[in-house]
Amino acid sequence: MGLLDGRVAIVTGAGRGLGRAHALALAAAGAAVVVNDVVNDAVTRTENGTGGTSAAAQVVAEIVAAGGKAVADTSSVTDWRACAAIVDHAVAELGRLDILVNNAGVTRDRMLASATEEDLDLTLGVHVKGTYAMAHHACAYWRSLVKAGGDVTGRVINTTSGAGMAGNLGQTAYAAAKAAIIGFTLSLALEAGRYHVTANAVSPLARTRMTEQLMGTAPADGGFDDLAPENASGLVVYLASPAAGWLTGQVLRVEGNEVIRMDGWSAGPRYRSRDGAALEPAELVEAVPKLFGAAPGGLAGLGG
Ligand SMILES: NC(=O)c1ccc[n+]([C@@H]2O[C@H](COP(=O)([O-])OP(=O)(O)OC[C@H]3O[C@@H](n4cnc5c(N)ncnc54)[C@H](O)[C@@H]3O)[C@@H](O)[C@H]2O)c1
Repeated sequence: MGLLDGRVAIVTGAGRGLGRAHALALAAAGAAVVVNDVVNDAVTRTENGTGGTSAAAQVVAEIVAAGGKAVADTSSVTDWRACAAIVDHAVAELGRLDILVNNAGVTRDRMLASATEEDLDLTLGVHVKGTYAMAHHACAYWRSLVKAGGDVTGRVINTTSGAGMAGNLGQTAYAAAKAAIIGFTLSLALEAGRYHVTANAVSPLARTRMTEQLMGTAPADGGFDDLAPENASGLVVYLASPAAGWLTGQVLRVEGNEVIRMDGWSAGPRYRSRDGAALEPAELVEAVPKLFGAAPGGLAGLGG
């Protein structure tokens, strides 16, 4: 018996990296999986651009070889109608949909002053529009099932990042996209509970194509690899399972073999206006630095 026996999942961007690890883990836990990814490794290697096997099909072959069930899908999540077709694909080929893992991602790291409109559109398109559109079509499906008296235990698991919570140099577009995914997840959790769907976000940390230049190679001694993509997949399987039905609207981070509950924005110290009327700029010269424990004039080094 697996935690996900009888369930059907979609994992976007599952041809490589974290998505591939999630797809393999969901399948090992008993789910049938739609493995979505646009990339075609073989095609990118051939000059005429034909033939070859998509990365998604390669992951499907791995799942099937391990005794699981999966189908490949090579649509782009930036295409609203293609996202509807991915949901339809799950229902038509695998009979239903229970779990959506929005994982597809790209980075176009550049300092803001050097960034292009294309960098921005691509980054927001894959992360924000892709996550939103996939969840929209999945939730429309779940809502119609509930209205028809069907039994739904839907799960949306989105992928955010440390950059979206704390910012990162050279990642203004990516950080904006990943922060947007958190706001989206919190709002979706409020809406989707009414049709028995939870929505949470995971913040992974892994050595993949996206990060390999920063993270080096796996330890040669065969010991625990803190940065293996598989490390994040146990949490994804848990969040996808019936056991996590109580948990929604949360962000959980995985670092190696640790899971961390991320606590969001919370109110810190406050200052009320001197005379009970609207705040005056002059009094804020003294009051705002105090909110940060600094002397009037502000924090050293940030410029006057
Ligand atoms: N690797 C990390 O440390 C890390 C940290 C924080 C967040 N993330 C997030 O985890 C997710 C997976 O990243 P990864 O590190 O495995 O990178 P990766 O590049 O190995 O995998 C991302 C996959 O998404 C696919 N993809 C890109 N655009 C797509 C589209 N339009 N439609 C469908 N698939 C598309 C790519 O082809 C690729 O296979 C991303 O959302 C990323 O932002 C990764």
